[in-house]
Amino acid sequence: MPQQLDPVTRDALEERLRFYRDLGLTEFYRRPVDPALMAALQAEQPQAEAARTEAEDAAQIQANFEEDQPIPPRKSFPAPPEVAAALAPADRASALQLIREEIGDCTRCALHKGRNKLVFADGNAQARLMFVGEGPGADEDAQGIPFVGRAGQLLNNMIAAMGLKREEVYIANVVKCRPPGNRTPEPEEANTCSPFLFRQIDVVRPEVLVALGATAATYLLGQRQPLAGLRGRVHSFRGTKLIVTYHPAFLLRDPRQKKEAWADLQIAMRELGLKPPGKG
Ligand code: URA
Repeated sequence: MPQQLDPVTRDALEERLRFYRDLGLTEFYRRPVDPALMAALQAEQPQAEAARTEAEDAAQIQANFEEDQPIPPRKSFPAPPEVAAALAPADRASALQLIREEIGDCTRCALHKGRNKLVFADGNAQARLMFVGEGPGADEDAQGIPFVGRAGQLLNNMIAAMGLKREEVYIANVVKCRPPGNRTPEPEEANTCSPFLFRQIDVVRPEVLVALGATAATYLLGQRQPLAGLRGRVHSFRGTKLIVTYHPAFLLRDPRQKKEAWADLQIAMRELGLKPPGKG
């Protein structure tokens, strides 16, 4: 009989699981979680949907990061002929529209079943800087726009701190439909959806890409590595400079890491030749 968790312990355990997941410390899940606590967490049948999905989330996170479950290798997705050569900036918005039309009322993976609105992207088709998140949350699913909830507010502040406006950057996610309970997208879901993201990147051709969190980093780099080892340097995604930083949702939970995120954004700014507002 699994032990019952009091709500305070359960919340603390769930918060800690999210904390480590966002930090990219995936090793954590294979050892120190007390199996009895984990069994109790998974056996809980809380009333509130949020609590239920958090428990599912914890189990899913654990499953996703088992060492013997590498992400399936990323297939090669050559840019389609219309974007094989850089598109004239003026043609990028219509090329993105074509990709959106091709996605259509998508049923390519199971995520469509719980979707309200498909979340394609937001921002400027001619952006020099592009952010990639994990997938829509509840607010994004309701509005059909990425990063409009609390994490989105923080992302807006991060963009402003860089001296940019949200309308000047391009924002998209690894998956375009909300995973149930905001769980991490399954490799199958992410690998089904991410080719469209790659094509969006091919069209926009930003000078710098910023991966927000472990999921974006994993699918852009085509390999799973702890976030801590990926931050602080410039990677490449199909020839575009790629910088990895914390997901804003993680920063909301652990504001102490904002300093580290700011250091990452400064790398992006350096690559773009930008100075923070007020620094001439
Ligand atoms: N988190 C994400 O990763 N993407 C969004 O669009 C919103 C929250």
